[in-house]
Amino acid sequence: MSKVLVTYATKYGSTKDVAEKIGETMRGKGDDVDILSVSDAGAIYGYDKIVFGAALYAGNISGPAKKFLTRNQAALSAKPVSFFVLGPINRDAKDMTGAEEQMAKVLAKFAWFKPAASKVFVGKFDASMLKWPLSLLTKAKGTPLYGETARDERDWDDIQTWAESV
Ligand SMILES: Cc1cc2nc3c(=O)[nH]c(=O)nc-3n(C[C@H](O)[C@H](O)[C@H](O)COP(=O)(O)O)c2cc1C
Repeated sequence: MSKVLVTYATKYGSTKDVAEKIGETMRGKGDDVDILSVSDAGAIYGYDKIVFGAALYAGNISGPAKKFLTRNQAALSAKPVSFFVLGPINRDAKDMTGAEEQMAKVLAKFAWFKPAASKVFVGKFDASMLKWPLSLLTKAKGTPLYGETARDERDWDDIQTWAESV
């Protein structure tokens, strides 16, 4: 039985849901799993394995997600880590490829961070959760969120399959 940390950075909650699904799936395999936000994760040396998830916003991960990486560089370099991002808000192949490119750019910024597995999952979007000025993004022609109101195409089978493999 491995002691596993599944940790996530979220602004609107969807990455937390995915982290919980991954953690529950790993528990089903017999792992001893803690599921914690990056701000609650504290010291991570005690874990055999770490799964870290963050969402993409304007091509980048959030400040707390970056801080988690920087703060834990030593432990994350010494442990098996699996990394996932939530990105596109639909399953369109072009958007998935775009998010994979964004993930690769994030990884390039943290050159020491070499996760054993990395994966993009479809995310969730709810325009009613955006505060001004971000709420303007759905009204600005040319932005990827133009005209979007709400969408949740998260692929729970894909998420479960990946969780079983890490
Ligand atoms: C302001 C904003 C910017 C976003 N930018 C990107 C992006 O650059 N690339 C991408 O793939 N997804 C982008 N998304 C989609 C989010 O990654 C997706 O909604 C994700 O599920 C949000 O995660 P959270 O609910 O954990 O915060 C963006 C969403 C918002 C609200």
